[in-house]
Amino acid sequence: MDLKELFRAYFGCDSTATYRAPARINLIGEHLDYNGGLVLPAAISLYISATISVRNDSKIKVYSLNTKTGFEIDLKEIRKDSKYAWANYVFGVFSILLDEGYKIPNGLNILIDSEIPLGSGLSSSAALLDLIVYLTSETFSLDISLEKIAKLAQRVENDYLGLKSGIMDEAAIALGKKNHCLLLNCQEYEYEQIPLDLGDYTFVVLKTNVPRSLVSSKYNERVEECQKGLELIRKKMNVNNLCEISVLELERFKDLISDEIIYQRVKHVISERHRVHLFVEALKKKEIVSLGKILNESHLSLKDDYEVSGPYLDAIQIAAIHAGAIGARMTGAGFGGCAIALIKKDSFTKFREEVLNEYSNLTELHADVLEVDIVDGPTKCLLH
Ligand code: GLA
Repeated sequence: MDLKELFRAYFGCDSTATYRAPARINLIGEHLDYNGGLVLPAAISLYISATISVRNDSKIKVYSLNTKTGFEIDLKEIRKDSKYAWANYVFGVFSILLDEGYKIPNGLNILIDSEIPLGSGLSSSAALLDLIVYLTSETFSLDISLEKIAKLAQRVENDYLGLKSGIMDEAAIALGKKNHCLLLNCQEYEYEQIPLDLGDYTFVVLKTNVPRSLVSSKYNERVEECQKGLELIRKKMNVNNLCEISVLELERFKDLISDEIIYQRVKHVISERHRVHLFVEALKKKEIVSLGKILNESHLSLKDDYEVSGPYLDAIQIAAIHAGAIGARMTGAGFGGCAIALIKKDSFTKFREEVLNEYSNLTELHADVLEVDIVDGPTKCLLH
């Protein structure tokens, strides 16, 4: 059955449109968004879609083809139902939109179908949030800009779902542009879309197939550790966030941070900030080999200083380098999930085979290596 037939089978009426939003990878600038830094993500060709129809009442009825679960809620009495984590993402959007004063005149039927692996660090949740804001705006002519869509989606994550995440994922998806990456200043919320012109090289996604564990608690812990580091540095220096501090300044203020763990976290942030600048420079000059080196350095910093990598991401990173990648690193929050590797386009088949072999030797798990395109953000599908 195609989506329209499945929709009819579940909701008992015809659908009127399908919208989709992509996943994202982050090339460099990890765990910098909530530290006021620059990040460099890109939207990739793995999609979540929503097929919809407008209802005559004020109910939001959703069904997921992936989890095979469905729920409904009345716009007049939105509550958080902890039993159904994914549905809270949908309901959270409506709660925040109403709270921001947007008028939603009718309910919706929404059929969700996703090819973005859940909990894999490719931002399946930000894609879902952006998608629901986008389709609601389009359906009821709310005229919400792409920049604002990302902000609203982030509010859902922060205020409704309780994850202290930064703006990167939602912005990377909402502002995705074909063959471009997004240089996003997370402090000012300004951005530049930079052509991702890698010549004979390409980025591939390496999936560890280890679901991210403890992600929200460990993530929030890192956010708090960075805040502690910032408070200590502020005793000597007037700064708004950690990314305003240079590598040299950190050396000068080393004594202020006696807690070794806090120092390591701050060190990662400040060194990663420097790597973003080097990476963007190298990208603009098309110095591809330098890009690879910076990716590897970033991985080491995330592994040793920020401690968000773990044995599976480390194993796949090493396997990628052994298989000929000129650079590789974990992407996203970490604690399991995915890595990215920069490889020669024509080496894909051999690269994939070697990574799968070495990864399964090291971990006894099967990995996936995915070829992806860099794509536009949310769209209404023309074929419905
Ligand atoms: C997750 C968060 C982002 C960002 C990354 C790490 O994906 O949602 O806001 O902090 O981790 O860079």
